[in-house]
Amino acid sequence: MCGIVGAVSARNIVPILVQGLQRLEYRGYDSCGVAVHQAGGLKRARSTARVAELQAQVDAEKLHAGTGIAHTRWATHGAPAVMNAHPHFSPGANAAADAAGRIALVHNGIIENHDELRAELQAKGFVFTSQTDTEVIAHLVAHLYHGDLFEAVQQAIARLQGAYAIAVFCRDEPHRVVGAREGSPLVLGVGDGETFLASDAMALAGVTDRIVYLEEGDVVDVQMGKHWIVGRQPDGSLRPLREDDRPVRVVQAHSGAAELGPYRHYMQKEIFEQPKAIADTLDAVAGISPELFGDGAFSAFNDVDQVLILACGTSYYAGSVAKFWLESIAGIPTQVEIASEYRYRDSVPHPRTLVVTISQSGETADTLAALKHARSLGMATTLTICNVATSAMVRECKFAYLTRAGVEVGVASTKAFTTQLVGLFLLTLALAQVRGRLSDEQEAVHLKALRHLPSAVAAVLALEPQIVAWSQAFTSKEHALFLGRGLHYPVALEGALKLKEISYIHAEAYPAGELKHGPLALVTSAMPVVTVAPNDQLLEKLKSNLQEVRARGGELYVFADSDTRIASAPGMHVIRMPEHYGPLSPILHVVPLQLLAYHTAVARGTDVDKPRNLAKSVTVE
Ligand code: M6R
Repeated sequence: MCGIVGAVSARNIVPILVQGLQRLEYRGYDSCGVAVHQAGGLKRARSTARVAELQAQVDAEKLHAGTGIAHTRWATHGAPAVMNAHPHFSPGANAAADAAGRIALVHNGIIENHDELRAELQAKGFVFTSQTDTEVIAHLVAHLYHGDLFEAVQQAIARLQGAYAIAVFCRDEPHRVVGAREGSPLVLGVGDGETFLASDAMALAGVTDRIVYLEEGDVVDVQMGKHWIVGRQPDGSLRPLREDDRPVRVVQAHSGAAELGPYRHYMQKEIFEQPKAIADTLDAVAGISPELFGDGAFSAFNDVDQVLILACGTSYYAGSVAKFWLESIAGIPTQVEIASEYRYRDSVPHPRTLVVTISQSGETADTLAALKHARSLGMATTLTICNVATSAMVRECKFAYLTRAGVEVGVASTKAFTTQLVGLFLLTLALAQVRGRLSDEQEAVHLKALRHLPSAVAAVLALEPQIVAWSQAFTSKEHALFLGRGLHYPVALEGALKLKEISYIHAEAYPAGELKHGPLALVTSAMPVVTVAPNDQLLEKLKSNLQEVRARGGELYVFADSDTRIASAPGMHVIRMPEHYGPLSPILHVVPLQLLAYHTAVARGTDVDKPRNLAKSVTVE
């Protein structure tokens, strides 16, 4: 994870660096820092507070310069502490730890051979002042520096194993920043007489819209209004690239800024934005057609006979719901894999597979690596359901369906999930159509249900006061169980993830029929058991499972469709869902679970939008 910004300009770039960091906080917020070339030397400000508070420190230190780098950190090696905050300085070998720096460096990624490099550099007289893997790169560059930073960085990266995007500058070359990427994103921003680096074009919104996407193995020499890129060749050597190898693209990156309006947190706002997000996601859908996913999708869909879904976290749960749809409606065998596992597993590839990645950010490192892995196994038909048009995922996949959830700020994914489900349902219908399993009448029925979703979700949101009342009972709990069956089991998993992620209550989800195979042992009156109870073909089975919980004194909190005839009773709390929604029911049933997690977290006083230890976009392995 981590976010990087860098700049070389004739004007003071400190405000641009700080604003860029603010926009990159979704990549981590354990600490932040800025370093600039000022008064012939290196100056920096670092903090474990949020970027908003770094500004005061930057002002106090009077940072003011045309060349600098900045970083917001998600801790991997070393605790979230100022000594581990980037930028890291290297004064060179045999210098006192507090000597002024010569090299300043920020890093996103993980250096796997850092122990070996650290030992080697310590033996040469370099003094380490942090527990990070990053500091080895700063010292390595200082060690290899003989008057040309671009050369030194190229030599340094040849020694690195792992993933990195770096930005580095040197006291002796005041108008130059060098960047490099391998496994972590980095873009170049081309301004008028000034040049920038950033982890994401969003950091440069309003500064420049002229963006160069660096590719794996690239090293870039950033100077005032000019840049040079060397790219890795198949034999591993670095060669200068031509301008059209890495063209400048005009990108309408959103600044990520979003007004909170009347809401207390972004998560609450985003939960309430779901009717609009779903309507926007459906906006361009006049009818079902493979071409909704891109030109040529019809023949691509015709050529596949199975689906492989790759995703992480909430997006994985969206994929798990879609498996039910794809198999029951489109009749296509579907496998859903946790991306971080799939990429390292010996699996049996099938060339006629449609590989579907699901990602809000489009930058999740595990999902991107899993996609690459699937391709390396010969599965070339790739499609993404993604919320960010400019993301690596959209660039890497042949076909895409863009969800139009808008910027999601809260770390806990909400509107991204429900819009992903909309995209996945459309994909199901398109595949069903190609496979001759969707009549015109069925298409019309499904489209009508999709179009009615925004108002159906709005009706569920109106249940908020009842859910607030329930959340009081959860505030003092340390554990909770979530139950669901069939395509609502992934919804239960998502509800448990939401609760643990933001309220820090340990929560687990089970398919309700599995209770008796172990987890029932956990059920006492102290264990709240949240149950998703739609009126589907598994309802009677689910009711039996609820009785198993009641018989053990468990406290049930049931979200039941209005026609389920599940009624409140001692130990059985029921909130009635406004209507039963057939196959699209997961989109409705997840909403009260989002609200329950949100209000429980608020009552427990956690940092709802930025829960501890997490980041919005997970760009490291
Ligand atoms: O951006 P992505 O959808 O690829 O992110 C995947 C997960 O990191 C993400 O869904 C995570 O689980 C959320 N914080 C859950 O709320």
